[in-house]
Amino acid sequence: MPELDASQFPFAVPAAAIAREAGALLKSYYERGVTAEFKGDVDIVTEADRASEKLIGERLRVVFPQHGVFGEEGTRQQLDSEYRWYIDPLDGTTNFAHGFPYFCVSMGLEHRPAGTPVDADGVIVAGVIYEPLRDELFIAEKGKGAYLNGRQIHVAPTAMLQESLIATGFPSRKRHESPNIHFYQEFTLRSHGVRRAGAAAVDLAYVACGRLEGFWEFNLNPWDTAAGSLLVTEAGGEITRFDGSPFLLDSHEVLATNGKIGKEMRTLFADMFAGRNVSPIPTPEEFKKRRDEAAAAER
Ligand code: IPD
Ligand code: CA
Ligand code: CA
Repeated sequence: MPELDASQFPFAVPAAAIAREAGALLKSYYERGVTAEFKGDVDIVTEADRASEKLIGERLRVVFPQHGVFGEEGTRQQLDSEYRWYIDPLDGTTNFAHGFPYFCVSMGLEHRPAGTPVDADGVIVAGVIYEPLRDELFIAEKGKGAYLNGRQIHVAPTAMLQESLIATGFPSRKRHESPNIHFYQEFTLRSHGVRRAGAAAVDLAYVACGRLEGFWEFNLNPWDTAAGSLLVTEAGGEITRFDGSPFLLDSHEVLATNGKIGKEMRTLFADMFAGRNVSPIPTPEEFKKRRDEAAAAER
């Protein structure tokens, strides 16, 4: 595997070593099996999430003592620093807890030069996503491209939604308030298919390396998207909100594409939010009635 050089990637290469270490820790928990605990009514967390975040926080304090850390499981270190890491110590916890092999460690670095207003975004300058079971390490630094296991990656060249494989995710909290099933349906009808594999950071990394042409989700957090957003743009793709306005760390909604199918996806979002282009889905009752009628007609 080609090794990237820390002199060229001063943030991503040291962070990658930490992500690998955290990934190895997750893998050992995964092989042993862990018990899930509830954070809310359906949101789960495991001891592996906490152990991974603790390890990452400790290592970052040694490697980048001046940097701040904002972690999903509660780490809040030096948030007034010029640099701030957004950490998802285990993205895909539900998968992990069920033994479904799709999860990762995600670390994104934001540069917040002096004078950046508290509520404004800085610039994401580095991103690292590590999938321990596949031993796949995705890294990017601003202006230097995106890499998978040391080789430069690019988004897929596919120009049309109807030839694209795309992905989405559904929140674990307040699922009944999410309209995403409608979008899932429409994008499924208009593409090669929509995957819902359960780890947003991996999905973003897969857009970056061309395994997926696009990904969208309602309600993500900065630790889910910071690293992946840079991977996508450094690989030649784009990331926006559903209406095409700039993606922000706390935008919650995310639309990441290879750049070529973005317009088509945004048009469908606009149409659907305006009540157009929503295809009727047969209810189970209607479906059964039609099936029974067809069977009766054949008899
Ligand atoms: C979740 C995953 C999932 C997405 C959820 C996230 P977690 O993160 O990324 O794919 O659909 O919205 O909360 O809780 O496993 O770190
Ligand atoms: Ca996550
Ligand atoms: Ca997580």
